[in-house]
Amino acid sequence: MMEEVMPWWKTAVIYQIYPRSFYDTSGNGIGDLQGIIKKIPYLADTLGIDAIWISPFYPSPMKDFGYDVSDYRNIDPLYGNMEDFDQLLESAHQAAIKIIIDLVPNHTSDQHPWFQESRSSRTNPKRDWYVWEDPKEAGFPPNNWLSVFGGRAWEWDQHTGQYYLHSFLKEQPDLNWRKPRVQEEIFKAVRFWLDRGVDGFRIDVAHYLMKDPGLRDNPVNQSGNQAIHKSLGEYDAQIHLYDKGHPDIHRVYRDFRKLLDEYPPEGSRMSMGEIHIFEWNEWTSYYGKNLDEIHLPINFSLLGAAWNAGSIRRLVDELEDNLPEGAWPNYVLGNHDDHRILTRVGRDQARVAATLLLTLRGTPILYYGDEIGMGDVDIPPDMCLDPAGIRQPGQGRDPNRTPMQWSDEPWAGFSPPQTKRTWLPLADDYTEVNVVQELKDPTSLLSFYRQLLGIRKTHPALQTGSYQAIAGAPEGCFLYTRENIRERILVALNFTHQECCIPSEVYNQGKLIISSQSSRTDHEIKQLVLQPDESVLITL
Ligand code: NOJ
Repeated sequence: MMEEVMPWWKTAVIYQIYPRSFYDTSGNGIGDLQGIIKKIPYLADTLGIDAIWISPFYPSPMKDFGYDVSDYRNIDPLYGNMEDFDQLLESAHQAAIKIIIDLVPNHTSDQHPWFQESRSSRTNPKRDWYVWEDPKEAGFPPNNWLSVFGGRAWEWDQHTGQYYLHSFLKEQPDLNWRKPRVQEEIFKAVRFWLDRGVDGFRIDVAHYLMKDPGLRDNPVNQSGNQAIHKSLGEYDAQIHLYDKGHPDIHRVYRDFRKLLDEYPPEGSRMSMGEIHIFEWNEWTSYYGKNLDEIHLPINFSLLGAAWNAGSIRRLVDELEDNLPEGAWPNYVLGNHDDHRILTRVGRDQARVAATLLLTLRGTPILYYGDEIGMGDVDIPPDMCLDPAGIRQPGQGRDPNRTPMQWSDEPWAGFSPPQTKRTWLPLADDYTEVNVVQELKDPTSLLSFYRQLLGIRKTHPALQTGSYQAIAGAPEGCFLYTRENIRERILVALNFTHQECCIPSEVYNQGKLIISSQSSRTDHEIKQLVLQPDESVLITL
């Protein structure tokens, strides 16, 4: 039987870089593109990841740290310039690393020249590139829509006497995707980067682009249930029926896919969409009816999951059961918007989390620093920078965006020693939790990640094999197999702090590939009692 040749993004491990926090070469306390270039050996050789997704580096007033773009075709001087970007592309490609960049199509910065023109007068040709509306009677906003960051989604513009829509900050006005010129212009920017050689895009709030054309009021959320994996405060008071996710969005993504497909198949370009939808049918619709839309709608289901074997297994099985034929899964356990996985599950379970992420069927997206066990850092309220946290205390994302901990040197080796301060404070634990230290220790979390990443490469069953959960696993354990024509691998994860005895028919006298516990020495598995918090891979 011939094995199918997989596109790169199906077998890749994607590593997310938040550029402000990865590596600072200039000494201003903020990471930069040269910093990413310097760390390519770490990415390629130490870790062995296959692709990086870089959060936005475009010129921006940084009201939302780059998710407020004022020029889609340039680099913010904080991070470097276009030459740095080209050098990054070249160095990454030489090291066989693909580059995925962030595309923020739902909104621009209010400083973007398009918006400046649009707000200049009602008759400006770019007026309708944004969503402008007359007030309702008595000057009220056009409808009840809310901003994700708190307060109304409408901002009054005194100068032209209309409201404009902003699903996020008022400094992030929403583009009007019902106007063909908007799509044309964003697609031009997409081509600009594709022609330079980028391999893919992560599409920011991909489902927000199309709203109800009638701008109807959202219904009140009577149940009080959160729609996504975390509380969004006041935003949860509504059911967000009309302010995003209108079915017309699918045409946009079909067009987007056609654009990507124009580029040669040998270097196929991909898209992954940030789609916080927790209803499987609606979420899978973004793959497209004929798998002709987004390659990987990002699967956030594990981010809010209760950390126990039952709930994780249920979510994995639900995804597998709901995935359209031929669609490819993916998993994330952390990103720049959510609590660090270490903080969620604790240090004891960090290896179970690593094993899960790197052995499920689908593309794993690994957040920078999770591989060394960085946790959320307490940021005192007076040092809070994230607008989400400033506007809605408790919702800040600064704690999970702190500088990467490279070494025990000053500034954790993130910034040069003479640096005055880093943009966010460092974690106190950086003298022990850092790359240099963990590389010296074969039993460290980083060493475990490196081994797992290597094993994924040498055991293709883990990349492309089938997934099958094992029924009747002891409580607290999640057991599954990954299988291709050559190999069958058992993944056994103990989500508890107690020993867990696995029935012999499951491991069938297999051979140990790896255990998260260095104390395990039995290579021929005659009896399998998982140690507390242990994860193992066994060839059956
Ligand atoms: C989603 C991004 O991940 C988040 O960081 C940002 O604040 C919003 N989109 C608005 O662009």
